[in-house]
This record gives sequence, C-alpha cells and structure tokens, in this order.
Amino acid sequence: MNEAAKALVTISKVGVIGAGQMGSGIAHVCALSGFDVVIYDISDEQLKKAVTNIDKNIGRQVNKGFVAEADKQAALARIKTGSSMSVLGDRDVVIEAATENEELKKKIFRDLCPHLKADALLCSNTSSISITRLAAVTDRPERFMGMHFMNPVPVMKLVELIRGIATSEMTFSAVRTFAEKLGKNTVTSEDFPAFIVNRILIPMLNEAIYTLYEGVANVRAIDVGMKLGVNHPMGPLELADFIGLDTCLAIMTTLHDGLADTKYRPCPLLVKYVEAGWLGRKTGKGFYDYSGPEPVPTR
Ligand code: CAA
Repeated sequence: MNEAAKALVTISKVGVIGAGQMGSGIAHVCALSGFDVVIYDISDEQLKKAVTNIDKNIGRQVNKGFVAEADKQAALARIKTGSSMSVLGDRDVVIEAATENEELKKKIFRDLCPHLKADALLCSNTSSISITRLAAVTDRPERFMGMHFMNPVPVMKLVELIRGIATSEMTFSAVRTFAEKLGKNTVTSEDFPAFIVNRILIPMLNEAIYTLYEGVANVRAIDVGMKLGVNHPMGPLELADFIGLDTCLAIMTTLHDGLADTKYRPCPLLVKYVEAGWLGRKTGKGFYDYSGPEPVPTR
C-alpha cells in the first residue's frame, strides 16, 4: 500500500453515484449536514429529477418545522450534479447507490477508480451484495466498505456499516464518524448476504407475498394485520411496494444464492410482478395501484 493510500481522511467533499431514490436521499442528508455534494448519474434527466425531489423533500422538513428555510437554501446550494465521472475526482468519499445489480456495481467501480484521488474512500450502499467481492474489483479494497442507508434516507435513523475482509480500521472509523455527523445511528454487520436489516426484513416481506399467493388473505388483510397486530408503520406489502419489488427480489435472490437454503426462495408471485414491470410505487403499480387519489390493492 502506498503512503497516500494509508493517509487518514477527513471527509468534507462527498460524491454520490446514482440519482435514484437512495442516491437523492443520501445527497439530501449530506448537504443538509453541511457537506459539499456532487451527484453523478449517466442520465441528465434523472439528475434534474433528483434535485427537484431533494428540494421537495427538504421542503417537507421545513413544513414540519424541523429545518429552517435558510438551511434548506444553503443545503441546495451545496449540491452539484454531473454526468461525467470526472466530477468525482476531488471527492474525499464516494458513495455508490446504483441499482442492486452486482455486475453493474462492479463496472461502475472499475470505471470510477482512475478518476479518484489516491486517498479517497469508497462506500457502497448495497443492501445485500458482498462488500468483499465489490472491493476486490477496485484499486483500494482497504479504503472500501459498506454504508447502507434505509429508505426514506432523510427520515430513517439507521446506517448499517459493513467491513469487507480488507477494510482498514482507519476507513471504518472515518466512515463511522461521517455517518454520525449525518445524524445517523450506526450498527455494524459482518459481510454476509443482506447484512442485518435485510436478512430479517426481506424474508418477512417475501412471506407476506406467500401469504397472498397461497390465498391465506388478501392484500388489505395482510397489511392491516401487520400494522395493527404488530404496530409496524407500514404493512409488509405496502412496504415492499415502497422499497421496490425489483429490489426485494434482488435481495431475496442474493440470500437464496448466497446461503443456499430453500427457506430463502423468492415467492413466484413476487417474480411475476417484477416480470410484469409492476415494481411498486416507482412505476405506479405493485401490490397497490397508485394511479388514483388512494392506493387500491391489485389483488
Ligand atoms: N424525505 C423523503 N421522503 C419522505 C420524507 C423526507 N423528508 N418525509 C416523508 N417521506 C415520505 C414517505 O415515504 C411518503 O411518501 P409520499 O408522500 O411521497 O407518498 C411520505 O413521505 C409520507 O410522509 P409522511 O409525512 O406522512 O410520513 P409518515 O410520518 O407517515 O412516515 C415513513 C412515513 C417514515 C416512511 C413511515 O411510514 C415508516 O417508517 N415506514 C417504514 C419505512 C421502513 O421500514 N423503511 C426501511 C425500509 S428497508 C430499507 O430501506 C433497507 C433496504 O435496503 C431495502
């Protein structure tokens, strides 16, 4: 390892890869916590949408009295965007929040590394993929780790931290301090499929889909049952739609492949919904149809 690669990093400039739901949420909390942020995405249209959404979502916090209007304006002024990876060249840390697809993430990391400062840290917001495997395609596995935010990022208090086999203590401690500066609580997970939260949550959502598939109950009964019966803020089918059914399926598949246990088999109904392009809220249809004023169950 060269000297630059061993250096302690103080994070002030943050890069975010991916202008989707998670990437915009991460950029939102970083900017609101005083960090200078650059969002990179291949699509200029998606970048514009992300900035509009961040404006709207900080606006919710202003309306609720949690954030001052002046702080909102200052946060928005800290966010820049770009569709060339060179915009990430001066970043102290880059957080990748692309689609949950291992080959895509690996390609992004391979393309990204030549643009980075020698001492830059790299994090993936992957919700299930091996940090060690992702780190192995980079030129800095000791400066690489998992930083898994929950959705909606501005509202949820947790960030899971995951060390790959090569992650250095310096990297871990710099990223933990950074997460704390974002106002998040952290938990640390070993590098096993889906880590802590999704190892437990996604099989529960999959079981709710089996409950529907086997005709035990309809969508409303399952969601009301879990909301009122267990005090969950959202029912499991509502939550699956909120997370995105493609993401739920990707995580179940990672658990099934990675742990080789049939108890993790994805429900065929989940597969069918994804094949239909019914991915939940983001496409307007999943276990509910979101085209009207109120969500309506699709089964
Ligand atoms: N920024 C972004 N989105 C915000 C927000 C903000 N500041 N404040 C609220 N939201 C979103 C909600 O998702 C929802 O969206 P729409 O209005 O666009 O439909 C809406 O705002 C609800 O707003 P409310 O003010 O009514 O919020 P609420 O007080 O009812 O709480 C909630 C909403 C916090 C999402 C609550 O329902 C909840 O806690 N649900 C469970 C969320 C959860 O479990 N998240 C973890 C998912 S798992 C995960 O993320 C890991 C993974 O890798 C898959």
